[in-house]
Amino acid sequence: MYTGLQHFHSFMAYLVLLGLIISIVFAFMGMSGNKPFTDKDRKRGLLGLIPAHLQWVLGVILYFLSPKGIDMATEGFMKVSEQRFYVLEHPLTMIIALILITVGYARSKRLQDDKKRFSSIAVFYTLALILILARIPWGEWPGN
Ligand code: HEM
Ligand code: HEM
Repeated sequence: MYTGLQHFHSFMAYLVLLGLIISIVFAFMGMSGNKPFTDKDRKRGLLGLIPAHLQWVLGVILYFLSPKGIDMATEGFMKVSEQRFYVLEHPLTMIIALILITVGYARSKRLQDDKKRFSSIAVFYTLALILILARIPWGEWPGN
């Protein structure tokens, strides 16, 4: 169970990054091209949203199963960078990124102005991508 989830979380990280990059490129293109925001554009926003939402459910489960999750919260864990990373920095940063993605997508549905709808995805997803890239465990992933 744990190994399967760990591999799934590791694999989903590719789809999260790929989905976000595709959504961001389309959103910037729509923004600069002054195009109308259609249902197709909303679905292009979903490419970034869906893998990220799935990844966060996997991450939360993994947090309680993995030796690298809550188990690392031993006394003085804040002083040890690897423990602080897995107990606090990785989950917290990723959850902030996920909130940004969800808000960016939700705003793109609700706003009226087409340019603002594209820029909601472009800006919120880009900020989320930067946060995600900052707190991926690069020493462990994509693997040696
Ligand atoms: C966009 C969201 C996320 C991305 C892109 C992401 C990415 C990753 C990556 C690339 C790894 C390394 C996998 C490997 O060693 O092969 C990892 C590990 C881990 N992540 Fe995430 N993660 C995300 C969200 C979360 C969240 C929300 C949590 C917990 C609440 C979480 C908990 C964990 C744990 C516990 C590990 C260690 C797994 C282990 O090696 O036992 N992740 N994550
Ligand atoms: C397997 C896991 C998940 C999948 C596949 C998933 C998928 C989706 C999809 C497709 C949407 C867009 C719906 C739309 O077009 O309006 C969405 C929206 C949303 N999801 Fe998730 N989700 C998952 C887990 C979660 C979890 C665990 C939470 C929160 C704890 C969450 C919070 C939200 C919120 C707040 C929205 C609304 C965005 C809006 O207002 O448009 N999701 N999710």
